[in-house]
Amino acid sequence: MSLEYFNPVRSVYGAGTLSSLPGLLGSRRAILVTFPEARALGLVARIEALLKTQLRGVIDNLQPNPDVAELTAQYDAFWAHAGDVDAIIALGGGSAIDTAKALMVGTQSGGFDEIMAALSAGRAITPTRVKTLIAVPTTAGTGSEVTPWATIWDRRRQVKHSLHLAETWPSIAIVDPELMLSLPAGVTLHSGLDALSHALESIWNVNANPLSDTFAIAAAREILATLPALMQEPSSLALRARMALAALKAGMAFSNTRTALAHSISYEMTLRYGLPHGIACSFSLPMVLQRALGRSIERDRVLARALGPLDQAPQRLTSFIEQLGVKTRFADYGVSDDQAASMVAHALTGARGRNFIGTQAMEVA
Ligand SMILES: [Fe+2]
Repeated sequence: MSLEYFNPVRSVYGAGTLSSLPGLLGSRRAILVTFPEARALGLVARIEALLKTQLRGVIDNLQPNPDVAELTAQYDAFWAHAGDVDAIIALGGGSAIDTAKALMVGTQSGGFDEIMAALSAGRAITPTRVKTLIAVPTTAGTGSEVTPWATIWDRRRQVKHSLHLAETWPSIAIVDPELMLSLPAGVTLHSGLDALSHALESIWNVNANPLSDTFAIAAAREILATLPALMQEPSSLALRARMALAALKAGMAFSNTRTALAHSISYEMTLRYGLPHGIACSFSLPMVLQRALGRSIERDRVLARALGPLDQAPQRLTSFIEQLGVKTRFADYGVSDDQAASMVAHALTGARGRNFIGTQAMEVA
């Protein structure tokens, strides 16, 4: 057997590790990319105090789910004044880190339209300049701090793009659970379920191997054991720390396998039905699990290590998600049986859907 695992991100984990930012940044000058509420939460002031004159600016006008229209304006403004900046510090959830990944790659013209034209045409993008990315997640779930992918939405055209270059890996991830203590309940839940989805999607995946499985199994078990307790006790640093580590492991897992059918379904649920990502990619997990079971003895074994005995696993997973207040049927979201069937069929043909271990067998069936 031969296998490969690759993750070039220097991952720094632990309560209080944000204070290591100046040492990790070194002599580089940085700009902070963060979410609008970061200022009121005192996070911008903390970064300013840590970096002093090395911090050259703050971009905090981000929207959830970065869209082409907003990114174009942010990108063009960033590159017009990017000469004295070496690094981008992305502080926030997936939207902040994905925005930073879009900003970090410079084009010949300095315009974002060059990136979008290449993405739309499926052409390779060769950046002319690249900024170093330091990702500091404030949610436990996205995994974007240890992956090279950025999701870019085009709501006007109702499509979703995935930006992925060799240059869009973060250089450093600082995972500090203290930053997650103030997360609202909704974001805690959505990001936690996103992380569970990353772990399971990494297992029922044609790209899985024993190394990605090691991360995925640990992540799934820890999230199942921790998330309900954390929802009851959101101010517990110990529980925040366990979720942050579990989400980081899930990120490590899918950084090598990518996601699969549940995420492929999620993109349409977000675009057409407005579901937040963490719900859109997790409500279908029991259904996808049911379809995954029995496809491969070896995958079944790994799923059993993550989820326990498989005979009742889909039911247990349904109960787990529903007890957190999230419905698990398409009908709960206004999607009819026919619409759901065609959505799943379409999702199976997408780039992420084709990673699902059941895809080929289902196409024949
Ligand atoms: Fe996700």
